[in-house]
Amino acid sequence: MSWQDEMQHRMESANSIPRLSLSLLPSFYQNLKPISDELDIDLWCKRDDMTAFGFGGNKTRKLDFLVAEALQQKATHIIAVGAVQSNFCRMAAAYASVTGLKCTLVLGGAQPKHTGNHLLSELFGAECHYVAGEDWQDWEEAAAKLEMQLLARGEIIYRMPIGGSTPLGALGYVYGFVEMLMQAEETNAVPEYMYFATSSGGTHAGLLVGQEVTGWEGTLQGIAVAKDMLALGKEALGLATMTGVLCKTILKEGAVHVDDSQIGEGYGLPTNAALEAQELFARKGGIVLDTVYTAKAAAGLIADARSGKIPKGSRVVFLHTGGSPEVWA
Ligand SMILES: Cc1ncc(COP(=O)(O)O)c(C=O)c1O
Repeated sequence: MSWQDEMQHRMESANSIPRLSLSLLPSFYQNLKPISDELDIDLWCKRDDMTAFGFGGNKTRKLDFLVAEALQQKATHIIAVGAVQSNFCRMAAAYASVTGLKCTLVLGGAQPKHTGNHLLSELFGAECHYVAGEDWQDWEEAAAKLEMQLLARGEIIYRMPIGGSTPLGALGYVYGFVEMLMQAEETNAVPEYMYFATSSGGTHAGLLVGQEVTGWEGTLQGIAVAKDMLALGKEALGLATMTGVLCKTILKEGAVHVDDSQIGEGYGLPTNAALEAQELFARKGGIVLDTVYTAKAAAGLIADARSGKIPKGSRVVFLHTGGSPEVWA
């Protein structure tokens, strides 16, 4: 049986799960020759920064499933949680605008500035509530309280956790991985490594299941931008295990690789390595990376290419997960 037949068999029930098609798919699979020359590897980029809807990014693949479920449950209102400059919240607001749902965003962290993602979330018509402090648990608790208030007003609520990282959201990246592998095969450019930014673990979980359903033998390397390696690895594996149930797949524990050496002083704080990666991708690829997620992920890739952890000449795909509005934040 080919991997495609095996994959179709495993994905049979997942294929019937309701899904919106607001993401512009397939996203490009692009060769990055000048950056490859610089790093002595064969570098490709999966351009999920260009999924287009609501300014694009990795979260549209998740929201296609999540908002379809909200509509199926006859929700009138969605609640999303994230940092003030959250890409996920910006895209959730865009999904609400087009599906006729009301949208409340619970935004945590520093005082809001009407720039970047925050500006776009307001433009898409979301109602924003702010929570001081950096503790994700406090943000989720504030969202739960708001949910109670809205329920009391007769709203039907669909509340999504940080990053939309539920098994259903992660399913978006099972399909994202399959899409990448098909493009890679068509271009005779199947990667041996895939690098990406990981934060709430949903993208990573979906990719892990994608790896399993396709039998791809390469290495998935998550670069952490907020949580440490052990905590995030455990979360991604737990989420992948639940996502695997939707795809008749059992996960192998050894498949989870998280590198937390690029976090620097913390979530959202740029590092020199991230700034260098941002400049390299901009000047040799015409590609915009944000310093919160994708530039740190690219910095991890660059460090591994330079240290030889990625052997010279290896084919590597960088999953560009979006986040470009951050450069105007
Ligand atoms: C641009 C960007 N890249 C990567 C991620 C990480 O995705 P996940 O939360 O699924 O780990 C996020 C999450 O907010 C993001 O906005």
